[in-house]
Amino acid sequence: MPMPNGTEQKQAMPSSPAFMFWSLSTAALTLGLIVFGAVVRVTDSGLGCGSDWPLCNGTLFPPLDNITAWIEWLHRLFAALIGLFGLATLAVAWRRYRQVDRRVLSMTVTAAILFVLQSGLGAVVVFLELPPTFVTLHLGGAMLLMAALLTAAVLAGHKPSAVERVDSVPMLAAANAAMAFLVILTGALVRGSGATLACTTWPLCDGGAVLPFDQSLLAVINMIHRLSVAAMSIMLVILIGQVYRKREQALIRRIALGAAALQILQIGVGALFVFSAAGREWGAVHVGLAAAVWGMLVTLTALEYINRRSVQG
Ligand code: HEM
Repeated sequence: MPMPNGTEQKQAMPSSPAFMFWSLSTAALTLGLIVFGAVVRVTDSGLGCGSDWPLCNGTLFPPLDNITAWIEWLHRLFAALIGLFGLATLAVAWRRYRQVDRRVLSMTVTAAILFVLQSGLGAVVVFLELPPTFVTLHLGGAMLLMAALLTAAVLAGHKPSAVERVDSVPMLAAANAAMAFLVILTGALVRGSGATLACTTWPLCDGGAVLPFDQSLLAVINMIHRLSVAAMSIMLVILIGQVYRKREQALIRRIALGAAALQILQIGVGALFVFSAAGREWGAVHVGLAAAVWGMLVTLTALEYINRRSVQG
């Protein structure tokens, strides 16, 4: 059917319910494991199995009375479950998409490679007894794995919408997702450098300082994280404004609004984390919410770029 702007909408391919099930379940499990990984960290269970892998302190199962060993062991088991779900996703992608849409297969293969790297990094984190650089890479790898799974699901399941003009929304969504990733890395830097409680007040650092060079390097690192959150929040407001001005689709609007709502919640949780002197529960919720906002922005970006391709033909 001819479209306004002289563009044609590409014929959308029917999506595979099996692929949608496996890819989205694997992404949801990955989000669960990200939260559980944060639990491993905040409960100081990272070396619950010693620097031993794949065994746990030299045995297959941890002793019943060793809670930190169980937490770390369950984290590994959870990762193995994701591996099984990932294999099923890969098998369906190969069977269903290798002839009809190589992008879905390529993105699923990317997720599989990321999973292998992520598991290897987990083992390195254990062998080297939690060096901050590798712990940060492990967190970043978890986010990229979830993003690849979500993108594969969007590529497979999203039917390009009726015509949209080529405008700034896809680029803005991508910039927001990139900023969310940067904020996650600055958060990991705060933790890795031991700067979590370097500022005891909120939203500014002690004495109302914005960049407290006169206090300590750790306080500056802490404030860099908060300032990048502030920059990201401004970018999110601009994104929402553009989405509500230029997009009619309920799904796009809901995802943008959902990301902003979670971001507001996240800012509150960040404050609670400071006021509770790094309460464990708030630390775990903080990582979970960061992953959720990131996941929504990645999904929005993927949807927008698919729509844009359909406009450009
Ligand atoms: C799909 C696979 C995996 C995902 C998505 C994942 C995700 C995560 C996340 C998000 C954290 C929290 C990091 C933070 O808050 O900074 C974490 C912590 C951790 N993970 Fe994994 N992980 C995976 C596999 C593994 C494997 C296979 C191992 C061990 C062989 C492992 C060992 C650890 C350890 C030791 C920690 C705690 C680090 C610390 O205490 O600082 N992970 N994981």
